[in-house]
Amino acid sequence: MSSDFTRQMLEQLLLPHFSKSDVQERIHAYAHPYRELIAYYRCAMMHVETKFNILDEELSLEYDRNPIESIKTRLKSLESIVDKAIRKQVPLTVESIEQNLNDVAGVRVICSHPSDIYTLADAFLKQDDITLIEKKDYIANPKPNGYRSLHLIVETPIFLHDKKKMMKVEVQFRTISMDWWASLEHKIRYKKDVEITPEIAQELYDCAEMSAELDKRMETIQSTVSDDKDTLKNPT
Ligand code: GTP
Ligand code: MG
Repeated sequence: MSSDFTRQMLEQLLLPHFSKSDVQERIHAYAHPYRELIAYYRCAMMHVETKFNILDEELSLEYDRNPIESIKTRLKSLESIVDKAIRKQVPLTVESIEQNLNDVAGVRVICSHPSDIYTLADAFLKQDDITLIEKKDYIANPKPNGYRSLHLIVETPIFLHDKKKMMKVEVQFRTISMDWWASLEHKIRYKKDVEITPEIAQELYDCAEMSAELDKRMETIQSTVSDDKDTLKNPT
């Protein structure tokens, strides 16, 4: 369902009862709080992304290598927000979306090695404007299909011209190989008309295990070539 379609539908419903300019005004007024909400999520997402860019810069000076390979951000579209709210059977109001949906704003931090993930997550969570809401460690406890990643739901303030607002952001930490596996698995799983047989599921699981093994081996190589001082250590 595209927003053009929604708009056309609303227009068709309202036009017999109101003038064109009245309809336009009503649609704008109705959509405004949702647009505003999405803009707030975008601000929170940028705020979190900047924090990781700063950590990467600082840690690279200290350890002579960048722990972050790349950062991806994504904002759920209004259509996906509505779909998820309906799926979770929660009201479609702005307040309910803020309360019940944790992943409108998403930041994915792709790291070089598994230990970098914990170093970055710890440094991030220690910051005094970050409040941890939920943590799922699918690296220590991979999902039964083999999926690995560290997920955090955090709350952080954004400072607007007249108020401070707390916003939730989902942060996913993965190594390159965790991300590679998850991207391909996602594509396979959501491919139309393809049934995931137990054999395919087993293959995918085996690939996840192999990629976890590769992560371990690459991390061992990294620590072999680094001096002690160059090895990123989990500070806790
Ligand atoms: P949803 O956000 O509704 O999916 O549920 P949740 O918040 O309980 O799930 P969870 O924190 O486990 O996963 C959130 C996100 O992680 C998903 O939206 C995906 O981006 C990713 N994810 C989780 N499990 C898998 C998986 O098995 N495969 C892949 N490719 N991605 C996953
Ligand atoms: Mg989620």
